[in-house]
Amino acid sequence: MITGVYVTSLVGIGLVAAIFYFVIRNAKREDTDYQQITRKWYRIRGIWFLFLLTLGTVVTYLTLTPFPIPDQGKKYADGEYQTVNVDSHQWYWVISPGTVKAGQPVEFLVTASDVNHGFGIYDENLRLLTQTQAMPGYTNRIVYTFDKPGNFKILCLEYCGLAHHGMISSLIVE
Ligand code: CUA
Repeated sequence: MITGVYVTSLVGIGLVAAIFYFVIRNAKREDTDYQQITRKWYRIRGIWFLFLLTLGTVVTYLTLTPFPIPDQGKKYADGEYQTVNVDSHQWYWVISPGTVKAGQPVEFLVTASDVNHGFGIYDENLRLLTQTQAMPGYTNRIVYTFDKPGNFKILCLEYCGLAHHGMISSLIVE
């Protein structure tokens, strides 16, 4: 009788041990597979990251050379640049002088007498060339060089009231 209990217990323990062994062994194998997959895809992810980084750097370099916006902090010697004063009002521009030369940098000193306006310079096809805010109490400086003569358009880029859309002027480049 005691032998029967003993054998049954032993068999039971053996069974439990076998189940544990089976589970642990399978769990280990799954873990290894998972780690292999993880390692593989981490490596692919690393390569992909380096590829994107290189691509981004090359595309950025190629599209920003030469840099499309002139150095706004550059100091010019007298006679090397032209100055245009811009004062904006609801709803018109006071631009002086209204004529500049092509091929020489123009320094626009832009302010406003009432509310915020947006000083935008467009070419004849109404393509925006450059812009700055026109703000009461401030003078914003923007430097732009016109590479060819023409009749350029000045449009307001900041909603400034009822006749905002009619705030149009022009600048002659000779
Ligand atoms: Cu001035 Cu809109």
